[in-house]
Amino acid sequence: MHQPQLVALLFSTMHVTTNPPHLLLLTILLLTTCGALGQQHPDGGCVPAERAALLSFKKGITVDIANRLASWHGRDCCKWTGVRCSSNETGRVLELRLRNEKTDLHRVPVCEDDNALSGEISSSLLHLEQLEHMDLSGNCLVEYGKNIPSFLGSMKNLRYLNLSFIPSFGEVPPQLGNLSRLQYLDLGFNDPYSMKYSSDINWLKNLHSLQHLSMRHVNLSQISDWPQILNGIPSLRVIDFRDCSLESANQSLPHMNLTKLQKLDLSSNNFDHEISYCWFWKATSLKYLDISVHRFFGEFHDALENMSSLQVLDLSYSLHSRLLMKGLQNNLVMKGNYNNLCSLEILDLSDNGIKLMERLPQCTWDNLLELHLRDNNFTGTLPNLTGNFTNLIILDLSANNLIGSIPPELGYLSSLTALHLGNNHLNGTIPNKIGALTNLTSLDLSNNNLNGIITEEHFAGLISLKKLNLASNNLKVVVGAHWFPPFRLQQQLEITELDLSSNALIDKIPNWFWQTFSLATDIDISNNQLSGACRQI
Ligand SMILES: *[C@@H]1O[C@H](CO)[C@@H](O)[C@H](O)[C@H]1NC(C)=O
Ligand SMILES: *[C@@H]1O[C@H](CO)[C@@H](O)[C@H](O)[C@H]1NC(C)=O
Ligand SMILES: *[C@@H]1O[C@H](CO)[C@@H](O)[C@H](O)[C@H]1NC(C)=O
Ligand SMILES: *[C@@H]1O[C@H](CO)[C@@H](O)[C@H](O)[C@H]1NC(C)=O
Ligand SMILES: *[C@@H]1O[C@H](CO)[C@@H](O)[C@H](O)[C@H]1NC(C)=O
Ligand SMILES: *[C@@H]1O[C@H](CO)[C@@H](O)[C@H](O)[C@H]1NC(C)=O
Ligand SMILES: *[C@@H]1O[C@H](CO)[C@@H](O)[C@H](O)[C@H]1NC(C)=O
Ligand SMILES: *[C@@H]1O[C@H](CO)[C@@H](O)[C@H](O)[C@H]1NC(C)=O
Ligand SMILES: *[C@@H]1O[C@H](CO)[C@@H](O)[C@H](O)[C@H]1NC(C)=O
Ligand SMILES: *[C@@H]1O[C@H](CO)[C@@H](O)[C@H](O)[C@H]1NC(C)=O
Ligand SMILES: *[C@@H]1O[C@H](CO)[C@@H](O)[C@H](O)[C@H]1NC(C)=O
Ligand SMILES: *[C@@H]1O[C@H](CO)[C@@H](O)[C@H](O)[C@H]1NC(C)=O
Repeated sequence: MHQPQLVALLFSTMHVTTNPPHLLLLTILLLTTCGALGQQHPDGGCVPAERAALLSFKKGITVDIANRLASWHGRDCCKWTGVRCSSNETGRVLELRLRNEKTDLHRVPVCEDDNALSGEISSSLLHLEQLEHMDLSGNCLVEYGKNIPSFLGSMKNLRYLNLSFIPSFGEVPPQLGNLSRLQYLDLGFNDPYSMKYSSDINWLKNLHSLQHLSMRHVNLSQISDWPQILNGIPSLRVIDFRDCSLESANQSLPHMNLTKLQKLDLSSNNFDHEISYCWFWKATSLKYLDISVHRFFGEFHDALENMSSLQVLDLSYSLHSRLLMKGLQNNLVMKGNYNNLCSLEILDLSDNGIKLMERLPQCTWDNLLELHLRDNNFTGTLPNLTGNFTNLIILDLSANNLIGSIPPELGYLSSLTALHLGNNHLNGTIPNKIGALTNLTSLDLSNNNLNGIITEEHFAGLISLKKLNLASNNLKVVVGAHWFPPFRLQQQLEITELDLSSNALIDKIPNWFWQTFSLATDIDISNNQLSGACRQI
């Protein structure tokens, strides 16, 4: 790879005038005896061979409008902009940080950006033998229509290689698979003047230390076993395969090796299959998952059951009419494009601690039929749902921390068949308007602080009711004849389950009560101040 003679020659021509001859001799001697290529000059500064390599690299940069390499002269290349050496004792170049920070990489084509370096990547960089970190991103360093140079695969000491936003064409050089120490590899790019692809990424498997991999916008359409290949790199923590023209994510992995994977971006590919088949549901260490912009279908709440680390799930433009997610342990933030969310028919986020409520105000939720938000630690008062959730059939907000009273407007949600507000801290009385919900089959207001007297009006219209649970409140009935009068209006109620336990009910249970509930198989009126039998049937 290197010619020691050449190095020695460069060395001597550079310093012959400034150093006493014996010193030069000594240095050359040192060079040859140690066999090392880049000994530092005794005067300090960087290793001359590496300085020369950097100067050759600079020569390859033909346009530098912003004069970013202005400091690249003088003996000590360790002081040049973007160059970092091991220490000033040994002076080996460890880092080359020439990222184009200023460019607006999403708007200006890189090669028209004034802050970009333009030209070519000189193979002289191979002389930077100790180089660990190279970031050339955002520069125009590949001739139009040409490919990333494959010699980069010989820079064996690299831990970090960032070639993102460098316009180039052709197949990503598989030689990069020789960079066995690589921890970070970024080849991502989204410039229309660039077309990169890979038809085989098996070379990635040689990168045993790889933690961060981005091939964003690299066309991988010909590769179907990409999950299997990634699964062979257990060190991976971040994978960015956004917009890679991938066809499907339904491959089955018998064993998930990616136990360190935290961030996975697979958005904007062409997945068009059942969402629960995706291989990544087995990557239970994931904290961030972006699967936006796809045509998934099906339900996936079971798929999520083991994703206990997930914190952000981006489903923008990927949702269908049903979203069911249960049992997530964390405070998941769900990102979703509003239009996409608002057209949901079923939203089931029970048990999740999802911070979705914050986003609800943006929608009119006309299409929503079912809203399941049980066990989400929601606080505050019940919002006025009347204007927006007009078609709701099921509303389940139980087991949250809701306070305040039950808004009478709920009585206008006339399609409701189930209203579950149990296990909150709701107080005040039960609004009479609830009695207008003629289709309601299940009403659960248990375990709140509701008080007041239950009157005829409350239940006048609840002709479909099958389950009624008002347990553990402070409810009373009017003593005597008015004990649950509406139920007397019916010959026989359909109610099969009745729970009025742990309230402030007093007095005797009238005969009609037992008649009215003769169909009920499950009655609990225990823990009240009733006389007579408390459990029956
Ligand atoms: C070497 O490092 C020391 C202390 O960090 C510093 O004082 C000195 O200026 C450095 N020498 C060069 C040539 O950079
Ligand atoms: C590579 O550089 C780009 C900016 O040019 C940056 O956005 C990206 O995060 C870098 N990649 C890595 C792995 O650090
Ligand atoms: C680099 O990789 C290529 C292709 O993967 C391979 O043919 C070549 O032998 C490798 N070179 C070295 C020096 O390892
Ligand atoms: C990706 O490559 C395939 C051919 O390999 C091509 O048909 C497809 O159009 C490419 N995708 C994009 C987005 O360029
Ligand atoms: C995966 O999806 C592809 C394309 O969507 C389909 O052709 C293939 O049959 C699916 N495979 C499995 C195992 O579901
Ligand atoms: C990864 O898992 C597969 C099974 O899917 C197994 O055959 C393989 O040995 C594992 N690879 C590594 C690198 O752990
Ligand atoms: C979740 O983990 C359990 C226990 O390992 C397993 O039986 C189940 O199939 C997993 N669920 C999914 C969707 O992978
Ligand atoms: C209800 O819809 C209106 C617009 O129709 C909107 O301003 C309001 O924020 C929405 N509220 C909820 C809770 O969605
Ligand atoms: C519920 O929310 C309260 C405050 O809003 C917070 O202090 C508490 O930790 C939360 N509980 C859980 C289980 O997230
Ligand atoms: C609830 O919303 C409906 C429809 O937007 C409106 O007519 C009603 O006045 C609201 N009630 C309260 C208490 O804000
Ligand atoms: C009540 O249920 C019946 C039968 O399912 C249905 O036809 C009717 O539209 C429902 N009423 C409302 C207000 O949704
Ligand atoms: C309900 O509780 C809230 C505080 O949570 C309190 O401000 C309000 O006065 C209570 N209302 C009734 C009717 O008890």
